[in-house]
Amino acid sequence: MSLLAPMQLLSSFFESHKSFLSKKYPGINLSRLENELNYFLGTNFNYSISQTESFLECLSRGLPLEQINHSAYFYRSQFYINENVLIPRSETEILVEKSIDYINTHFRDAVSVCDVGTGTGAIILSVISEIETRNIKACASDISEKALEVARINYFRSRLERRENFELSFSLSDRLESIEENFDVILSNPPYIKEDTDRSKVHGQVHEYEPHLALYLKDVEYDSWFDELFSQVDNSLNRGGLFLMEGHEDHLQYLREAFIKSVKQINYNNIELIEDYTGRTRFLWATKKKS
Ligand SMILES: C[S@@+](CC[C@H](N)C(=O)[O-])C[C@H]1O[C@@H](n2cnc3c(N)ncnc32)[C@H](O)[C@@H]1O
Repeated sequence: MSLLAPMQLLSSFFESHKSFLSKKYPGINLSRLENELNYFLGTNFNYSISQTESFLECLSRGLPLEQINHSAYFYRSQFYINENVLIPRSETEILVEKSIDYINTHFRDAVSVCDVGTGTGAIILSVISEIETRNIKACASDISEKALEVARINYFRSRLERRENFELSFSLSDRLESIEENFDVILSNPPYIKEDTDRSKVHGQVHEYEPHLALYLKDVEYDSWFDELFSQVDNSLNRGGLFLMEGHEDHLQYLREAFIKSVKQINYNNIELIEDYTGRTRFLWATKKKS
């Protein structure tokens, strides 16, 4: 069977749902949808009409394209995703780049890295794929067992297990609470949206389809949640180590102050905020003195 019929179905759906699609999928065009449909159909041409209909049904519900195809691109790889994990975002790639630079500069021989709230595993797997350190010990942690299942799938797909002198463990933990080891680098893209205060700025599709555990913290618990995270980081970060966290541009200024209060500031040589490429404050960076 040719692909003509599915593509015709798609283009007539596109014409009749233009305004709905542009609301649900900002910036979408027909050619992008054709690529997504091709991916969705794969090589299963026998079922292409019924499969096209199920693709269109997902679109008419406004499901994110990454969830329809169980696939998202991040940094230099493709990741499996499902409804239990956040779809990795391009701004998080800055956190990956900065940590790779830091590790390659300061930890040539051995490094231990922890990713708190790993979700798909996109951060830790991307960092490990790129660093040149000879001995690597890594930990991917999350409070959600279902998210850890996704991270494990991505780990096995990455073929990183073939790398020599490399170890990755998965840990079910509330922040760093259940993790006994210390680390040279602690990375995190935690949930950082205040459930009430920030809700109006969250895109409807994100709120409807992405896991709330990955997105939101209750307003009343927000400050204490981060105080606890920061004091755990202070206890678990080795001398000479880096803590790098993504956060909400409206709250990071406050969180930098909170970090300073939660840790023994004298042990740190740098606690600063970093912007993304559009000039928005998006990351908290803290390095511990060597001695
Ligand atoms: C914003 S998502 C980040 C996912 C992934 N690291 C990324 O950057 O795409 C936050 C993640 O933190 C996890 N999480 C939420 N509360 C947590 C907690 N108290 N301790 C550990 N992980 C938590 C969520 O399950 C989710 O996977």
